[in-house]
Amino acid sequence: MSGNGLLTGKKGVIFGALNDSSIAWKIAEAVHREGGQFILSNAPVAKRLGGLDELADKTGAEIIWADATSADDLDALFERAKELYGGVDFIVHSIGMGLNVRKNRPYEDLNYEWYKKSLDISAMSLHRAVHSADGTGALKDGASIVALTYIGAQRTFSKYSEMGDAKALLESIVRSYGYRLGKRGIRINSISQSPTITTAGSGIAGFDAMFQFAERIAPMGNADAASCADYTVAMLSDLTRMVTMQNLFHDGGFSTMGISDELIADLAEVYSKGE
Ligand SMILES: NC(=O)c1ccc[n+]([C@@H]2O[C@H](COP(=O)([O-])OP(=O)(O)OC[C@H]3O[C@@H](n4cnc5c(N)ncnc54)[C@H](O)[C@@H]3O)[C@@H](O)[C@H]2O)c1
Repeated sequence: MSGNGLLTGKKGVIFGALNDSSIAWKIAEAVHREGGQFILSNAPVAKRLGGLDELADKTGAEIIWADATSADDLDALFERAKELYGGVDFIVHSIGMGLNVRKNRPYEDLNYEWYKKSLDISAMSLHRAVHSADGTGALKDGASIVALTYIGAQRTFSKYSEMGDAKALLESIVRSYGYRLGKRGIRINSISQSPTITTAGSGIAGFDAMFQFAERIAPMGNADAASCADYTVAMLSDLTRMVTMQNLFHDGGFSTMGISDELIADLAEVYSKGE
C-alpha cells in the first residue's frame, strides 16, 4: 500500500516492536509510510534479541530502551521525546506478557507475584506511560493514544487465563484516563485485535486452536497485523479526532458472531467420527 500522508508532521512513541511479526513492527512501518516520525521503545531485555535496529534504520527512528513498569525509564524516554520533537502527538502501547500463562500455571492456582507482574507489564504500564508523558510535559493537546487488546477482556477464553484480567484492566484504564484527557482534545482507545501469529501470541497454550476457531467464525477471517497497523494509523490520524474511550474490535466480524456454517460443518465431521 502506498502512503497518503495521513500522519505527516505527527511525532510519537511506539512501544512493543520485538521482531517483524510483532503488531507494533507493522504499526511502525505503516506510521512511517504515512509520514509520522517516532521513537521505538522496548524493554532493555529485548536488546539482546537485536531485531529493532533494522526497523529503526528503515523508519529513521531512534530507539530508547525502557522497561514499561519503570517510572524512571519512562520519564527518561518522554524527556527525550520532548527534546527531539517538542512533544508527542501519539503513543502506541503494544505490550503484553502473561507470566503464569507462559509458565503454564493454571488460573485456579496463579502465582500471585507473577500475576502482579503480568498486570503491571500488560495493563498498568499504559497508565504509567500516559502519566509519564503527561508529567514530563511531553503529551501534546490533541494527541491520540492507542493500546492493543483482545476480546478475552469481555469473554472467557479458557487458555487466555490471567491475560483476560490484564486486558480488562487495560480497557478500563482507557476509559478512566480518556475522561481525564478529553478536555485537552487527547483521546485514548483500545484496538481489540484478532489472534495474530506473533511471539506473545504463540506463547499462549492452545493459541493455534484459538486462531483457527476465530478464523472459521469471523466472516472475513482473522485480521492480520498489517491490517491492524492500517487501522491504528486511522486512529492516530485527525480523521478520527472525536473518537475516544472506545474498545474497537478489529477482528473481521468475530465479536458479533455466534457460530458459522464453517464451524458447524467442521464440528459435525469431528463428532460424527466419534459415533
Ligand atoms: N498476537 C495476538 O494474537 C494478539 C491479539 C490481540 C492483542 N494482542 C496484543 O498486541 C500487543 C502486542 O503483542 P504482539 O502479539 O505483537 O507480540 P510481541 O511479543 O511481538 O509484542 C509484545 C511486546 O511487549 C514487550 N514487553 C514485554 N515486557 C515488557 C516490558 N516490561 N516493558 C516494555 N515492553 C515489554 C515485548 O518485548 C514485546 O515487544 C500485546 O498487547 C498483545 O496482548 C495480541
